[in-house]
Formats: sequence, C-alpha cells, structure tokens
Amino acid sequence: MTRTIIAIAGASASGKSLFTQTIYNELVNELESGAIAIIEEDAYYKDQSHLPFEHRTQTNYDHPDAFEHDLLRQHLEQLRRGESIEVPTYDYAQHTRSSETRTVIPAKILIIEGILLLSDSALSEEFDIKVFIDTPLDICLLRRMQRDIEQRGRSLPSVVEQYQATVRPMFYQFIEPSKHNADLVVTRGGMNRVAIDIIKSKIKYLLQE
Ligand code: CTP
Repeated sequence: MTRTIIAIAGASASGKSLFTQTIYNELVNELESGAIAIIEEDAYYKDQSHLPFEHRTQTNYDHPDAFEHDLLRQHLEQLRRGESIEVPTYDYAQHTRSSETRTVIPAKILIIEGILLLSDSALSEEFDIKVFIDTPLDICLLRRMQRDIEQRGRSLPSVVEQYQATVRPMFYQFIEPSKHNADLVVTRGGMNRVAIDIIKSKIKYLLQE
C-alpha cells in the first residue's frame, strides 16, 4: 500500500515533470517493482466532453475549479488503503478527458505533480512531503510558449491571450502563495541536481524503513 505521497507543485512549465521524471527514471531500475509510481494533477482536469469545443477553449484552466480534486483525494485514499486506481487521461488539444484510463497500483512511494496541489488545503493534508519548484516566471513563459505550440497544438496568439487572461493572474492568486505550504523550495526545477539527489536519498531511506 502507498505509505508516502510526495507532491511536486509550481508554476506552469516550471520544470515539475522533468524534476519528477528524472527522480523516477533514475530510481525505477534499482528499486523492486511496485516501489514507486507517478501521477499528474492534470489527469484530474474535469471532463468537458458534454461542452462544445469552442466553450472548452474558454475554461480557466489555472483556477482550482477546473480540477476534480475530490476525485484525486479519493484516489489517494484508495492507494493508501492498498487499492489500485484508474487515473483519467487528459487531451490538451481537445480540452477534455479521453476515454482511456491508466491503472496505477498502490506503490509504496507515490509522486504527484501539478500546479495547484498546494493551494488546496484539504488536498495538501494528503501529502507527506511538499515540494515547490521555484523557477523564474519569464523562463516558465518561454518554455510554455514552445511546449504549447510544439506539443499541445496551440497557436502563438492563443498562448499569449491565455497567458495574459488566466495563467499569469492565477499564478499570483493561487500558485505563488501556495509556496509557503511547501516543506522544500527548489530553484531551477529539473536542472537542480542537488535537490534531485536529496529527494532520491529520502525515497531510498523511506523504502528501507
Ligand atoms: N492547460 C491548457 N489547456 C487545457 C488544460 C490545461 O492550456 N485544456 C494548461 C493550464 O493553463 C495550466 C497548464 O496546462 O497552466 C498545466 O500544465 P503544466 O503545469 O504547464 O504542465 P507540466 O508539464 O506538468 O508542467 P512542467 O513544465 O512544470 O513540468
């Protein structure tokens, strides 16, 4: 059953996925199978398949109401009880859930990454270790522009419009204040080798207990 849940939060395109994936990839082969698993908060964006596409493009995806955090909490509690879960999959180009799910087993260590994990106090209670990736916002913006155009099927004008309308204001309203709920603040995200090694050592230590 899942004993330790590690949350990795921070601005959009701050490097949360790279930080998380690096830890996972470097540990997965040296640990017994089922020791570690990853899930993304983005998988818990609300299903919007009942809405026309044009409406879905208008959603504020950086506000807590865009997520089904109750389902995420329920899933974390199931993992703690030793039950597997079916994690939704999300389609950024269609702005809704796709029909497939991904089975996640109750690994001893679970890492979860997402923008608003530490801004929800009920959800935060589920986390044993809370990390905030603190990357300068201009670097995040550059990465987001490149990623959204290359990987999420967006145009430059749409990225600029969304950034000004919701991404930036919601960062200041919800994400940045949540930094104070973190146990550890990591500069430079996936590039911070020392922070990656510290979390890896902690995971190995927890697995020996
Ligand atoms: N988002 C979007 N359209 C949707 C759903 C989400 O543009 N239909 C955007 C939101 O605006 C939010 C972002 O997706 O800001 C959340 O993903 P992000 O944290 O950027 O992705 P990660 O890959 O997890 O981030 P990182 O680069 O830090 O690894």
